[in-house]
Amino acid sequence: RMPVLEQCYNLMDFEAVARRVMKKTAWAYYSSGADDEITMRENHSAYHKIWFRPRILMDVENIDLSTTMLGTPVSIPFYVTATALGKLGNPEGEVVLTRGAHKHNVIQMIPTLASCSFDEICDAKKDGQIQWLQLYVNKDRAITKRIVQHAEKRGCKGLFITVDAPQLGRREKDMRSKFQDVGSNVQDTGGDNVDRSQGAARAISSFIDPSLNWKDIPWFLSITKMPVLLKGVQRVEDVIKAIECGVHGVVLSNHGGRQLDFARSGIEVLAEVMPVLRERAWENRIEIYVDGGIRRATDMIKALCLGAKGVGIGRPFLYAMSAYGLPGVDRAMQLLKDEMEMNMRLIGCSSVDQLNPTFVDTRGLSMH
Ligand code: FNR
Repeated sequence: RMPVLEQCYNLMDFEAVARRVMKKTAWAYYSSGADDEITMRENHSAYHKIWFRPRILMDVENIDLSTTMLGTPVSIPFYVTATALGKLGNPEGEVVLTRGAHKHNVIQMIPTLASCSFDEICDAKKDGQIQWLQLYVNKDRAITKRIVQHAEKRGCKGLFITVDAPQLGRREKDMRSKFQDVGSNVQDTGGDNVDRSQGAARAISSFIDPSLNWKDIPWFLSITKMPVLLKGVQRVEDVIKAIECGVHGVVLSNHGGRQLDFARSGIEVLAEVMPVLRERAWENRIEIYVDGGIRRATDMIKALCLGAKGVGIGRPFLYAMSAYGLPGVDRAMQLLKDEMEMNMRLIGCSSVDQLNPTFVDTRGLSMH
């Protein structure tokens, strides 16, 4: 028998249920990674190389999980990252994630390739709720400019330019399922005239501009007042370049292991980046986010200890939404809050700003 929602005790449980209830093509699109899926697996297992150095006798009666992201107060330091094609998992699509994010006072990043239209996802937000926009840059910059300026007008508070996908990776599970139905928003974003024999991902991505480069970044900064961030940065040299370009932040990410196989995990890159920024006293010049493989609050706490402002979580909310709809998303977020409160207490930290590198032993990471 299928587990009922109350039998899901952690984020991995939703994945197990989703795998059983989802349509094969939808499961293939959500769960796949690039090539041999080595990076996809490494994303989570990299966190297993980091151990805690808890403090004792710290008065942890009251725990405050709240923080800010790009100036927005949030109840806990994760956001719902951009994942395309929400209607593959739930007939209502991304607005289910919007409602869950509202209930838990966290930010949702809206994907360029959402199944719902951008305006539908904006209309679903409630009083004071904050959304960001994930951008795939179109070869036709007039389209890109229209998308960005419309998002700003609709109240989006951050622009995340995806920079790890000049060409979509080969996700063979997805390609084998010979995807057909690409969802309603794809025409608006330039994803028409597509070859559907290559799986969902490749079918919808042919408009993305592979010539995008550093010289384009000032243009993005000039067309919007939203903070501009680069999503998919994978080495310290590029973080430094991003700071020099004047962007407001980066997401250390490998696209959930869906692009370059053998890309390092975001947490590994974070451990490389922060000491260099601290040496230059640059650690407060931008906000650094990490995504990929975050399944436990302990993963989130480790990233925060190493200097991340927050973390993005993708597949777990897709699986929760696909298996149980909004109640699933709600429970997944609540489980993370409960896990985080307990683990903050157990490492001896009563608020997020107290987390620092002394709480983790990173000698197991490969750079050492
Ligand atoms: C993604 N991701 C993604 N990223 C992006 O910039 N634009 C996109 O359209 C998508 N689409 C997308 C679809 C699906 C099904 C997945 C699983 C992921 C990547 C996403 O934003 C994020 O980097 C990863 O999902 C984080 O890893 P986890 O949390 O899924 O392990």
